[in-house]
Amino acid sequence: MDALASSPLGWLCAGVTALFGVTALCTAQRSPMDKANVLLWSLLPALLGLLCLALLGAAGGLVVFLATCLISSTYLGGQILLPVGDKAVLVTGSDTGIGHALAKYLDSLGFVVFAGVLDKDGPGAEELQRSCSGRLSLLQLDVTNATQVKEAYLKVSEKVQSTGLWGVVNNAGILGFPADGELLPMSNYRQCMEVNFFGAVELSKTFLPLLRKSQGRLVNMSSMAGGIPLPRYAAYGASKAALSMFSGVMRQELSKWGIKVAAIHPSGFRTGIQGTSDLWDKQEKELMENLPADTRQAYGEDYLQGLRSYLLHMPTCCDPDLSPVLGDVLHALLARRPHGLYTPGKGAYLLLCIFCCFPLWCYDFIISKMLSAEPVPREQRTSEDESKNL
Ligand SMILES: NC(=O)c1ccc[n+]([C@@H]2O[C@H](COP(=O)([O-])OP(=O)(O)OC[C@H]3O[C@@H](n4cnc5c(N)ncnc54)[C@H](OP(=O)(O)O)[C@@H]3O)[C@@H](O)[C@H]2O)c1
Ligand SMILES: *[C@@H]1O[C@H](CO)[C@@H](O)[C@H](O)[C@H]1NC(C)=O
Ligand SMILES: *[C@@H]1O[C@H](CO)[C@@H](O)[C@H](O)[C@H]1NC(C)=O
Repeated sequence: MDALASSPLGWLCAGVTALFGVTALCTAQRSPMDKANVLLWSLLPALLGLLCLALLGAAGGLVVFLATCLISSTYLGGQILLPVGDKAVLVTGSDTGIGHALAKYLDSLGFVVFAGVLDKDGPGAEELQRSCSGRLSLLQLDVTNATQVKEAYLKVSEKVQSTGLWGVVNNAGILGFPADGELLPMSNYRQCMEVNFFGAVELSKTFLPLLRKSQGRLVNMSSMAGGIPLPRYAAYGASKAALSMFSGVMRQELSKWGIKVAAIHPSGFRTGIQGTSDLWDKQEKELMENLPADTRQAYGEDYLQGLRSYLLHMPTCCDPDLSPVLGDVLHALLARRPHGLYTPGKGAYLLLCIFCCFPLWCYDFIISKMLSAEPVPREQRTSEDESKNL
C-alpha cells in the first residue's frame, strides 16, 4: 500500500478521483441533483479501490478502481439534468394530487408552469394561484373537451412565442370504481378511455407542434395497472395500457424530431384519485342499476356491498409522500438521457419484473396470494369462507 501511495500510479488514481468529484459536483451545482448522492458516487471508485488494494494488492485495486470509475460515470451521466432556465411546461389535471404537487414543485424550481385545471374556480386552482410564483398560469382545461384543448393551445402558444414549450405532462386521469370487470358498467369503461386515453392523445396531438420546435419532452402519467394486469382495474388498467402503448410508439416515432417521450407507471400514492364517498355512492348506484339479476345473485349482496370497503382501505396502503413521482417526472423532463419508463412507488418495479420475466402462471399465483384476504362471491363460497365472511 505504501508503495502505491508514493508511486506515480497512486497519484494518478488520486488525481482522477479528485477530477471526477469536482466535475460531478460542478455539474450538480448547476442542475437540481441530490448533492450527497453525487458525492457518494464520485468517491465510490476511490473507496472501493483502496479496499481492494488492501485485500487484493495493486493490480486488483487498480482493476476495481477503473471498473467502478466506469460504472459511476455512467450512473452520474444518466443523472445529469439540463438547466431549468426559462423552460415552460404544461401539466394537466393540476386541481389535486400528483398534478397539483407537480405544478408547485416545478414552479419552485423556476419553470414557467402552465397548470391545466378541470375547474378554474375550484379550490385547487385557487391554492396554486395563491402559493405559486407569478410565472405560473392557470388554464381551464378539461382534456375531454376539444374546445378547451384548442383554447389552451392558443393561450400557451401566444405566451411562449419566444421561448417555446419544453414539456407536456399528461397527468389528468380518473380511476373510476375499482370492481370486478364483469360488474363494471360500460359507462365506466368509456369514461376511463375518454379521460385517460383519448384526452391524453388529443392533448398531445394538439401540442406536438410546439414541442417539435423546442425538441422537448412528452411525459405520460400512466399507471402500474397499465403495465401489468391487476384485479379490479379492468377499465382503468385497459385505458392506461392503451396510453402506455401509445407512448411507446410515440417514443419511437418522435425520436426523429428530437422529442423524447417517457411514461411513468406509479404504484399507490395517496391523492384525490381514491374519490369521495359521494362519488362512490354515485358509482355504486350506477353499477347496481346495470347489473343483470343472475349476476347479482351469483356474487351476492354482501360481496357487492363490500366493493367499496376496498376504496375505504386504499389510502392506508398508499404512500402520502409524492416525492418519488415528482423526482421521476423531473428526470423525464430534464435528464439528458431520460428513461422510456419510470416505476415510482412500492412494488411497481418488482411486480413488473415478475410479470415480464417469469411465466404468467407464476405472476398470477403471486397476485392471488397477495389478494387472498379478498371477499369471495356467494356462489363460490365454501363453508369455511362462510364462517370467515360472517
Ligand atoms: N395516485 C396513485 O396512486 C396513482 C397511481 C398510478 C397512476 N396514477 C395516475 O397519476 C395521475 C394523477 O393522479 P392523482 O393520483 O394525482 O389523482 P387526482 O388527485 O384525482 O388527480 C387527477 C386530476 O385530474 C383531474 N381531471 C379529471 N378528469 C379530468 C379531465 N377530463 N380533464 C382535466 N383534468 C381532469 C382531476 O380533477 P378533479 O379532482 O376535479 O376531478 C384531478 O385534479 C392520473 O393519471 C393517475 O391515473 C396515480
Ligand atoms: C367545452 O368547453 C366549452 C368552453 O369552455 C364550453 O362552452 C362547453 O360547454 C364545453 N363542452 C362540454 C361538453 O363540456
Ligand atoms: C403520451 O401519450 C400520447 C397519447 O396517448 C402520445 O401522443 C404521446 O406521445 C405520449 N407521450 C409520452 C411521453 O409518452
